[in-house]
Amino acid sequence: MDKTFAIEALNLTKYYGETLAVDQVNFEVRRGEIFGFLGPNGAGKTTTIRMLSGLSQPSAGAIRVLGYDIGSEIVEAKKGFGVVPEYSNLYGELTAQDNLIFAAQLYGVPRQQRKRRAEELLETFGLLEKKDAHFATLSKGMKRSLTIAAALIHNPQLIFLDEPTVALDVVNARSLRSLVRELNRRGVTVFLTTHYLEEAAMLCDRIAILLQGRIIVIDTPDNLKQRVKAEHACEVRFAPMPTEVMELEGLESVYRVERSGAGFRLYGESMPDIVQAVFTYASQKGLEIVFISTTSPTLEDAFVQLTGIAPEVMLVEKGVK
Ligand SMILES: Nc1ncnc2c1ncn2[C@@H]1O[C@H](COP(=O)(O)OP(=O)(O)OP(=O)(O)O)[C@@H](O)[C@H]1O
Ligand SMILES: [Mg+2]
Repeated sequence: MDKTFAIEALNLTKYYGETLAVDQVNFEVRRGEIFGFLGPNGAGKTTTIRMLSGLSQPSAGAIRVLGYDIGSEIVEAKKGFGVVPEYSNLYGELTAQDNLIFAAQLYGVPRQQRKRRAEELLETFGLLEKKDAHFATLSKGMKRSLTIAAALIHNPQLIFLDEPTVALDVVNARSLRSLVRELNRRGVTVFLTTHYLEEAAMLCDRIAILLQGRIIVIDTPDNLKQRVKAEHACEVRFAPMPTEVMELEGLESVYRVERSGAGFRLYGESMPDIVQAVFTYASQKGLEIVFISTTSPTLEDAFVQLTGIAPEVMLVEKGVK
């Protein structure tokens, strides 16, 4: 039993009839990690979470969670993880507290500990005031928080979060992200899915990009940026402005020039070289540099280059759903 990994997936595959939803996916999640599955609509994120948590049977492949084989030791494994589905599984007509107590019962928390555990979680999630409110009457953000609290009722070592911040406003999404970080600091391994590139980058130690059921790449946000063929841009305005783009195009280490507002944008592989060339050019021509700024490749650039998908497309798709 390998204890270094919280999750091990080997050639994980899922067909729904003819539809291949997850296609021979391989990955490992280390204990203590926040691991993100990033991908557009229908990429297979939810299907993967459902297989990992024993809710759906893989068509092929093997899964170990917390060292247990999900095919044959699901009961043991379940004691150590919690699942937060994209759509809440709590009961609208039960109060916040009763939902947690009910979850405690389901997860096998001993009777005498249920109420105390529920109260601890209400406190942690800032929901103590709402303990007697019916779940249905809570705000969207509170509902999401309580659903996560319910999945933590048995103090799991690992939590699965399916799109934890989707449809939340900016403030709620941010507080939810800090909550996930806090959980992780307390030692909980996190597996989450998301449409949001920025979210994956902010939260995750490593990101797997999933596209049409296949993992395209698994890496840290920083390494993903590094993989991008570096194209740095330098924006510059001179006084007086040169009228000819030609001269700038001729500069060594600049391989492309565009007009940009009142100035120029110069592209090249080495930022120091571009900047050096700009200063040399300005002093030779007796021009003043009134503005200069530089930009380097972002995770978005990396994402587009790796997947061919514009990140906005993912947001639009999710909004429509
Ligand atoms: N119960 C099901 N029966 C048939 N096909 C399904 C079922 N669930 C999912 N699929 C199909 O499997 C593929 C993957 O779906 P899945 O829900 O896992 O994607 P997802 O990445 O979670 O998407 P979303 O971002 O929309 O939540 C899709 O083509 C979907 O239509
Ligand atoms: Mg989904």
